[in-house]
Amino acid sequence: MSGRIPRQFIDDLLVRVDIVDLIDSRVPLKKSGSNFTARCPFHTEKTPSFSVNRGRQIYHCFGCGASGNAIGFLMEFNHLGFVEAVEDLAAFAGVDVPRELIDGEPGLPDKKSVAHVYEVLAGVAGFYAEQLRGNSEGRKAVEYLKTRGVSGEVARDFSLGYAPNKWDALVARFGQAELIEAGMLVVRDDGKVYDRFRGRLMFPIRDKRKRVVGFGGRVLDDSLPKYLNSPETAVFSKSKELYGLCELLERNSKPERILVVEGYMDVIALAQFGISNAVAALGTATSKAQIDLLFRFTSELVFCFDGDSAGRQAAWKATDAALPCLRDGRQIKIMLLPQGQDPDSLLRAENSSAFMERIRNAQVLSDYFFENIVGQLELATVEGRSQLLAAATPSLEKVPAGFFREMMFARLQELSGARVAVDVVENQARLKSKFNTNKFTPSPRVSLARKVIGLLLQHPHFASLVEREGVVLDDLNFAGVELLRDVLQRIALEKPENSAILLESFRGLSQEKAVKALAGLELDVPAGGEEAEFCGALQQLCKQAKEAMLTRLIEKESREGLMFEEKEVLRKLLRGKT
Ligand code: UTP
Ligand code: MN
Repeated sequence: MSGRIPRQFIDDLLVRVDIVDLIDSRVPLKKSGSNFTARCPFHTEKTPSFSVNRGRQIYHCFGCGASGNAIGFLMEFNHLGFVEAVEDLAAFAGVDVPRELIDGEPGLPDKKSVAHVYEVLAGVAGFYAEQLRGNSEGRKAVEYLKTRGVSGEVARDFSLGYAPNKWDALVARFGQAELIEAGMLVVRDDGKVYDRFRGRLMFPIRDKRKRVVGFGGRVLDDSLPKYLNSPETAVFSKSKELYGLCELLERNSKPERILVVEGYMDVIALAQFGISNAVAALGTATSKAQIDLLFRFTSELVFCFDGDSAGRQAAWKATDAALPCLRDGRQIKIMLLPQGQDPDSLLRAENSSAFMERIRNAQVLSDYFFENIVGQLELATVEGRSQLLAAATPSLEKVPAGFFREMMFARLQELSGARVAVDVVENQARLKSKFNTNKFTPSPRVSLARKVIGLLLQHPHFASLVEREGVVLDDLNFAGVELLRDVLQRIALEKPENSAILLESFRGLSQEKAVKALAGLELDVPAGGEEAEFCGALQQLCKQAKEAMLTRLIEKESREGLMFEEKEVLRKLLRGKT
């Protein structure tokens, strides 16, 4: 037996995997409006009533009522247990399943090592930091930092350190097995080991939970390789972590925007100049997982690239990776620097206010996208316009349903002068109406409470609207009020990124079945109108509940009189009415 799978890992997995890709790999899906459909794999049918929603990351069948998230799908489809389904899903995402340490249960090699890996990494970071301050060799690194204009304060904020130029500095101080697990040693073919980082300035990489997960190390001169990075380990994956995120969140847990730059030294230099909202991808292209991670903390990302051709290529890659992440309310800007400059060099050449001005003037992704794709095309010709359509459509298909997507297609239509985009939209509308009139159309009489809870489950961020609308549920009583309270409580507690994660948090609880059914409810709300629908239904629900209670209390008063608390409620209700 091994330890529990950490909740955070499961949540991350549900963010990282796209349920549309997962199900499509088993049951080919067709696009229909904002959903993807197929004939239901869980019951026999001639016309498709199985639908998968990318925004909510859940599936639902109008025919047999099956519904759930990606984990639920694998459990049902492959008849798996929960853990097996998580393992399969992790395999689909190409990641390993970590296990938590079980208290008091000895001898679990995989579990034990992860906790020890974190411990040893924290220890090593402390040791490197001491080396930077402690001795004559470390002083070279301090001198180097000075030549790069990095102050002691910034070095401390980022816990910078120095790895002594020895083959066994770590081996002499920490457990060898843990060091190997942590990626801090190189193991030779003959089994001998030595320190991976020697004579380097060390940048500890911390995850969003403030744990050291790996390091980058820079030489102090021009020798190569300039940087070494920790290898992939049980706790470190380059494509998931971002350098500087932890330090940024320590200062400001809800930054207005986050700047994504290319290098360790750029993050450091920006902080040195008082711009402490920057992170760096770790020497690879920014991944979707990284972008989603950043959007948990801010609504605007500014990608910053060198203006040379490699930088432009990287910017284009990032743009393409970002498209599936662009839900309404999320904004990405692209900032190209003068050729051959990075933020570090530019800040020193100009100053921080000039740099801030550049951030403000960064190009919105939609402009960048079209400018880039139109690039060399001859839009005056039919050939050019069809090339534009061919090049842009697959990318735009990746944008999740919403206003942003619609506007991008509208822009494409404008530029290409083609009706293709419109046709697509019209086609979808036609398909949708056809779909809605088939025999699996849900009952139009969805109760108000079901509608409110359904919309809330499908859009967990609507929870904040409850307060904004001035709705207090405490005194109200209607069928479903308990469940509504439970869902609100869960959202407040878990702050789920999407529907699938919210659903996951109900697994095994008494509400699971109801929650699954309501999350899959097809509410027939026009795209973009969900928020207004939610507020309207919520207000109406409260009004009805208040009226029902009022009637009941007045009746009771005339029949048998009221208890003190009931009188209070009645008084409140009557006051509210006028
Ligand atoms: P840069 O060469 O732009 O590095 O590489 P930098 O951060 O600006 O450092 P300075 O200013 O030269 O000191 C950008 C990033 O690419 C990765 C590192 O993450 C680096 O920060 N990289 C670069 C490596 O992983 N290995 C290398 O050899 C070079
Ligand atoms: Mn640099």
